[in-house]
Amino acid sequence: MNKKTNTNIINKININNTDKIKHKLLVMSAKGGVGKTTIAVNLAYALSRKGFRTGLLDADIHGPNAPKMLGLKDEKLFVRNNKIVPINIKDNNISGVLKVVSMAFLAGKEKAVIWRGPLKHKLIKQFVEDVAWGELDYQVVDLPPGTGDESISISQLLNNITGSIIVSTPQQVALLDVIKSINFSREMNVPIIGMIENMAGDLFGRGGVKILAHKEHINFLGSLELDKRITQFGDKGKPFIINNTWDVSESFNRIVDRIIQSTKKS
Ligand SMILES: Nc1ncnc2c1ncn2[C@@H]1O[C@H](COP(=O)(O)OP(=O)(O)OP(=O)(O)O)[C@@H](O)[C@H]1O
Ligand SMILES: [Mg+2]
Repeated sequence: MNKKTNTNIINKININNTDKIKHKLLVMSAKGGVGKTTIAVNLAYALSRKGFRTGLLDADIHGPNAPKMLGLKDEKLFVRNNKIVPINIKDNNISGVLKVVSMAFLAGKEKAVIWRGPLKHKLIKQFVEDVAWGELDYQVVDLPPGTGDESISISQLLNNITGSIIVSTPQQVALLDVIKSINFSREMNVPIIGMIENMAGDLFGRGGVKILAHKEHINFLGSLELDKRITQFGDKGKPFIINNTWDVSESFNRIVDRIIQSTKKS
């Protein structure tokens, strides 16, 4: 699909959101490649498996990887009653609901999306305001790296954000970057639900994110090891947490439970 057709779809949709979403979670980090999408996808999947009605909004316009990690390839969004209809994922593990919206369902597979700020803002606005999510318990938003256009648009447009989940790897250079995410959240008045350490292990070390979280008076949600099975499952298009007995799945489930607990308080 070319840029013109995308714009046509977007123009067909009016701005009127009546859907009810209880908890809105932003998964973010200033640094690229630290595992935001892996965490957003597995979190959304885990929530839907626990029976929650869950929506995954992939707000990464230039690198929309969330569908790939869920094994979605040729799905396309369409518009009904002036609303974008999300892709509804069905599998036997999902006792709730799992719906996904992504730029990947609009753009051609290998095409680079070359959009400047205002058009990106318009698309994000449509993704925020004009998707027929229905009633949701949780909306998980997978943000692109950094604190640029998409993150600003989402933080401004999404009403009543429950909070951000900041992901970092444990090495010092990553921790320097993560301060930017913390400051971004604070400046945008987005409460910080907590921080997750990802890819802990011999390569990047471990423990650094917990120390930083405590120093910044932020809740530490837990640590996930660097494990090649996580990479392999991402590549296969399957959430790694379907493997109930893996140690990394257990760690991740504890993180999910902490997130659920903190949203109950808010
Ligand atoms: N704990 C982990 N162990 C091993 N591999 C991981 C782990 N977490 C993520 N990965 C892998 O690292 C790569 C980057 O992860 P991912 O795409 O989730 O990062 P990202 O922060 O969303 O990246 P981007 O900034 O480009 O959006 C992927 O191949 C993913 O499968
Ligand atoms: Mg990503």
